[in-house]
Amino acid sequence: MEQRLIHYKELDSTNAEIKRLVQQGKAVEGMVVLANKQTAGRGRHGRVWYSPENGSLYMSVFVRPDFDLAKAPMVTLLMAYGVASALQSCGIEAQIKWPNDLVISGKKICGILTELHNHESLGAYLIVGVGLNISKEHLPAELDELATCISWGEKDAQVFWAKKIMEQFDTLYKHFLQEQDLAFIRNAYNRILVNYNRQVRVLDPQGEYNGIARGIEEDGRLCVERDTGELEFVYSGEVSVRGVYGYV
Ligand code: BTN
Repeated sequence: MEQRLIHYKELDSTNAEIKRLVQQGKAVEGMVVLANKQTAGRGRHGRVWYSPENGSLYMSVFVRPDFDLAKAPMVTLLMAYGVASALQSCGIEAQIKWPNDLVISGKKICGILTELHNHESLGAYLIVGVGLNISKEHLPAELDELATCISWGEKDAQVFWAKKIMEQFDTLYKHFLQEQDLAFIRNAYNRILVNYNRQVRVLDPQGEYNGIARGIEEDGRLCVERDTGELEFVYSGEVSVRGVYGYV
């Protein structure tokens, strides 16, 4: 994946910028867009992603899937694992809250928003947006209970982390293209899965239930053992999974 990093002072949303670049024919595979600040940062489920200046990393990556689109959700898992590996390479131990979040001591430090779009001539493409909380000063008090940061507020921290993350993601993505599934990271992923072998609540629109998370499958689905002993395989995007006693 050729990497081209574009760094803006301010954007509405780095995901939105990639979409504009695609529409203008200026986006190349692997392109990374960074912003110091977002005025309309987007989270999952239509939520706002609080994006003050220099408080966090706001970055998006342009991916043109060379694989069956049904596998697109696996790219989010690859990115989550890539961010965790980048942090670990600097001595920061984070865990993954399947499928989109990273946590430290039970509090969120990173969220990932993957969007699938279609372009009339390019076809389907993905925008993988990453928001990583770098410095706590910038987090509002009301997020204190839920979110924390990696406390790595050095100069040029955004570029530093964007490069670290892309180094990891690039290697993982190449592997994934060859293997076409997540078997190659499955065990390592499950080791840092925050809910592994713990009680979770599956917020399935067809009916919520409790169970124990038994880790991801090779296709990225989360295996949940119901209280009845029955195994369920949960697709990301379809349902949310949270800890029985709170966010994690
Ligand atoms: C979540 O809800 O947890 C996902 C948050 C994703 C936020 C990132 S910040 C960079 C990129 N641009 C956006 O507008 N959103 C994503």
